[in-house]
Amino acid sequence: MIKIRIRFEVQTERMKILVTGGAGFIGSHTVVELFNNGDVPIIIDDFRNSDPFILERLKEITGNTPVFYNLDCLDLKGLEDVFEKEKPEGVVHFAAYKAVGESVEKPVMYYENNIGTLINLLKLVPQHNINYFVFSSSCTVYGDPEVIPVTEQSPIQEASSPYGYTKQVCEKMLQDFCKVNQNIKTVLLRYFNPIGSHPSGLIGELPNGVPNNLVPYVTQTAAGQRDQLTINGGDYNTSDGTCIRDYIHVSDLADAHVKAFAFLQNQISNFHVFNVGTGSGSTVLEVVKAFEKATKVTVKYFIGPRREGDVVSIFADNSKILTELDWRPKFSLEEALLHSWRWQQSLSD
Ligand code: WQD
Repeated sequence: MIKIRIRFEVQTERMKILVTGGAGFIGSHTVVELFNNGDVPIIIDDFRNSDPFILERLKEITGNTPVFYNLDCLDLKGLEDVFEKEKPEGVVHFAAYKAVGESVEKPVMYYENNIGTLINLLKLVPQHNINYFVFSSSCTVYGDPEVIPVTEQSPIQEASSPYGYTKQVCEKMLQDFCKVNQNIKTVLLRYFNPIGSHPSGLIGELPNGVPNNLVPYVTQTAAGQRDQLTINGGDYNTSDGTCIRDYIHVSDLADAHVKAFAFLQNQISNFHVFNVGTGSGSTVLEVVKAFEKATKVTVKYFIGPRREGDVVSIFADNSKILTELDWRPKFSLEEALLHSWRWQQSLSD
């Protein structure tokens, strides 16, 4: 029997896309991939979680100077002026706080910013001919899942942190919004744990003060900026007692956004959800050992108490995004950790 495989390349239009939080960790990496795709990203950022030099680095990586607006997305009038001036076809909304531990300490700051900025965008999108909306959501909407890996149909349980709850509220807002705005096509991307940096070493994560997240704390410890890593809990019911997460390279995550806009241009229904993870889980100790193996640098650590808001284990069933978005992760955990280390070293230069 002769098998014939025909691959249809569906042409998608190049678009002008508003990127809120576009100078941030995931936002800046997505700007790179949008430029690479021939799109025109328009960055909105107020540098609360980034730095102006990232804009220069984006030009160095892509050869393009991104249009940029220094703006807080809670400023509705300022946001409206950008929509009127730039007339984008799409919006990707990154501008939000994202530290689980910090959100437990500062819930109101998280509710105001993460929910308030989305409300502003949803007020403007219907008035400005926006066709496509991609939202930065999170696996934290699953709470502490009883069954792993989690699929997009896994139950949305009580959030384990105010951060996770803001993402659940934003997802429900978008679902209700899409019911009465059928012409606006939306994708929710539920990120797992973004790590790594662009292979060039020119952009990466810039944590404010003491990092909340594991990998930047590991790299700062390896660089001698921190005495030692505290591993939050060593008595969980996992292979080595430490928590399990799905660590995905930030450039792979960025590519999922480009694929999401292409996907939306060929859809009838207007509300879609995708897990964006590698599909495999690693414990905290496995991450530390993988970092040491990849970089040949030892990380001093001790096992401390559990951290409030942590779930024991979560990683993605990513079969839906693999098939429907024709996306797959390209980088391994070790490569991502090596890229993180390269970025950390560039900050010390
Ligand atoms: C991972 C593990 C910590 C720091 C992140 C993002 C959130 C969302 C989900 C996208 C936990 C442990 C950490 C440290 C440690 N992603 N840890 N020592 O909490 O899974 O949430 O992914 O939306 O935005 O914040 O990531 O890196 O904080 O923690 O032992 O110094 O590492 O306890 O078990 P988390 P994390």
